[in-house]
Amino acid sequence: MFDDLPILPPDSILGLAAACRADTNPDKVDLTIGIYMDETGACPVFNAVKEAQRALIDDESTKAYIPPQGDEAFLSGMLELILGSANVKAGRDTISAVQAPGGCGAVRLGAEVLKAADPTGKVWVSRPTWPVHVPLITSTGLELSEYRYYDPSTHGVDFEGMVADLQQATHGDVVLLHGCCHNPSGADLSPDQWDVVADMAVKQGFTPMVDLAYQGFGEGLDVDVYGLRTLVAKTPEVVIAASLSKNMGLYRERTGLAIFTGPDARTADATASQAKAAARRIYSMPPAHGALIAGRVLANPLLRGGWTAELEQMCDRINGLRVDFRDRLQAATGRDFGFIAREKGMFSFLGLSEEQALEVRAKRSLYMLNSSRINIASLNQSNMDRVVDAVASVL
Ligand code: LMR
Repeated sequence: MFDDLPILPPDSILGLAAACRADTNPDKVDLTIGIYMDETGACPVFNAVKEAQRALIDDESTKAYIPPQGDEAFLSGMLELILGSANVKAGRDTISAVQAPGGCGAVRLGAEVLKAADPTGKVWVSRPTWPVHVPLITSTGLELSEYRYYDPSTHGVDFEGMVADLQQATHGDVVLLHGCCHNPSGADLSPDQWDVVADMAVKQGFTPMVDLAYQGFGEGLDVDVYGLRTLVAKTPEVVIAASLSKNMGLYRERTGLAIFTGPDARTADATASQAKAAARRIYSMPPAHGALIAGRVLANPLLRGGWTAELEQMCDRINGLRVDFRDRLQAATGRDFGFIAREKGMFSFLGLSEEQALEVRAKRSLYMLNSSRINIASLNQSNMDRVVDAVASVL
C-alpha cells in the first residue's frame, strides 16, 4: 500500500531547523524557527510557569479529560488578557471560547467554524503570510485569496495596496490579520491603519480573523492588541486564534484557544458547538497541561506579575538586539538596515535573494528561511558578528 506513497519535501521551517541541527560546523547559527532564545542560546522556561507547574503537579488528583470546551480558568483568564475586561463584560453572553492545541489548532478550529457558516466564503491572507496558514485553512475546503501586505522595496506595509485589494472582500469573506508582530515580516499596521481596516469590515461586511501568536512581543500586552480590540468593538463578528507558545513559552504544551465574538447569545452557542464538534472529529479533547498552568499564572496576581515582567524583559531584549544588529549590519555593509529596528516581534526579512540565503547556508552554516526571514530572538552577543559577516559576504 505504501510502495508508491510519495515522500514529501521537508517543511519550509522545521526542515531547515533539522538541517541546522545536523550541520557539524561548530560556527553554525540557526535563525530559522520562531522560538525565543536567551543570551546563552537556550529557550527558557518562565519562572511563573515553573512555579505554577510545581503547584499543579502537587495538586493534580486526576488525569481524566478536561471539558471539551477547555479549562474554565484558562478560558476566562485568556479572554480577559486578549479582549480586556471591559469588552469581556460588555459581551459576556455573545462571546464563545474553545481551547485548542496551540495557535495552529485554534486557526484550524476557526476555519472549520467559518467553513460551516459559509462553505463558499473566501479567506484573504496577507502576501506574504505564515506558510502554515495555507494548509491549516485550505484543509477545511475554504479557498484563499491574497491581499498585498509587505513591500520589500520599502521594507514596510503596502497599505494602499492592502486597502485596494481588500475592497473586493465582501460579506461571507474572511480577512486574516496578524494581531501583532507580523510573521514573517515584522511589519505591523499602525493604530490608524487598524481603524481603517475595522471601518472597511463594517462597511463591506467581511469577517476579520486575527491570528494572535505574539501578544507582548511587540510593544506590550495591551498595546499589541489595539487592532484586535478595535475590531471587536466595531465589527459584529470577529474570530481570534490565540497561542501561548511564545508569550508564556509553552511551545511544546500546545496551548491556545479560538474565540468567536458575535451579535447575541445564540450565535455564541452556535460557534462554540461548531468548534467543539470540529475538535471532536479531528482530535477529540484539548491537551490539559499547558492550559492548567496558564490558568494558574493568569489567576494568581504574584505569578501573573512575574510572568509579565519576564515577558517585558524578553521584548526589551529583542528590541535591543534589533538596534544592535541594525548598527552592525550598517557598519559592515554601508547599507540602510533601519527597518530592522522599526519592525516588531521575532521576525524580519533581511532582504536577501533566495540564492543569497542558500549561499550563506552552504558556505557559512547560517540558517535562515529561503525568503531571508530571520528570527531576531536567536541572535546573541556571541553569534551576531558571525551573522553580520556572513550577510555582508553576499551583499
Ligand atoms: C515560526 O514561524 O517559525 C513559528 O511560528 C514556528 C512554526 O511552527 O513554524
